[in-house]
Amino acid sequence: MTRLDEKTAFITGAGSGIGEAVAKRFAAEGARVVIADRDTAAADRVAAEIGAAARSVTVDISDEDQVQSAFAALSTDGWAPNVVVANAGVQLFGQDAEIAELDVEAWRRTVDINLTGTFLTVKHAVRSMLASGGGSIILTGSPTGVTGEGSEFTAYSTTKAGVHGLGRTVAAAYAKRGIRVNTVVPSYVETPLVSAISDDQSARAAITSRIPMGRPGTPGDLTGVMTFLASDDSAFATGAMFTVDGGMTTL
Ligand SMILES: NC(=O)c1ccc[n+]([C@@H]2O[C@H](COP(=O)([O-])OP(=O)(O)OC[C@H]3O[C@@H](n4cnc5c(N)ncnc54)[C@H](O)[C@@H]3O)[C@@H](O)[C@H]2O)c1
Repeated sequence: MTRLDEKTAFITGAGSGIGEAVAKRFAAEGARVVIADRDTAAADRVAAEIGAAARSVTVDISDEDQVQSAFAALSTDGWAPNVVVANAGVQLFGQDAEIAELDVEAWRRTVDINLTGTFLTVKHAVRSMLASGGGSIILTGSPTGVTGEGSEFTAYSTTKAGVHGLGRTVAAAYAKRGIRVNTVVPSYVETPLVSAISDDQSARAAITSRIPMGRPGTPGDLTGVMTFLASDDSAFATGAMFTVDGGMTTL
């Protein structure tokens, strides 16, 4: 028996990076997985690589109609999720900045996806889970929402602090109704999101020097904690932040 038998997981941003690794791990642990991404080709690729246990759906999490339709279709098809990973996000390198230099358009785009998109994903996940018997919701946070690590990324860091608050609030509201909400906090993980850092040797060395373990994270570093939170092993955990960051937030 594998750890996620009987689970159906809906994972946003699963066309790349952390979400892709989590989807593949969940499938290997016995779950059915829904690869949700605004990038249709990426979602289709990941679903095809996983095979029959996966399906893909194109969804822009900042658009409520699309999010609502995605959950409705899953319910109709017998794929109502009991695990939802609200993971999709953006970090606008070259646009996000210290506040005096931050254009409102970059702020709004970041808030629309990272904060409003997470709100919409969790809102419709909760509605679906209330109707189908509960479940586990996992958010992807960031050290930038905890410490001053993101001082040059005002919009991104602020949205991540908001995501952490959303997780706590929704966890408290639904704790008696069979829905758990927890937040995983990765640090610098080498994915396409942060290629602007990874492709710049001095920037990469600088951020790595702020990780006590002395190396960047990989998407695979996050799949263990995500599997724990998706599984019934974490049945008494809700409203918590699980930091898997090589020690970055200890500094
Ligand atoms: N990589 C890091 O260093 C790091 C660190 C801390 C937190 N995070 C967080 O982890 C999460 C995943 O990031 P990643 O590094 O895997 O990034 P990534 O860029 O590799 O993957 C993000 C995926 O989200 C999708 N996406 C973006 N906007 C979307 C939208 N509006 N609707 C639906 N899908 C959308 C993209 O198409 C992409 O497939 C993000 O929330 C990010 O903030 C990443």
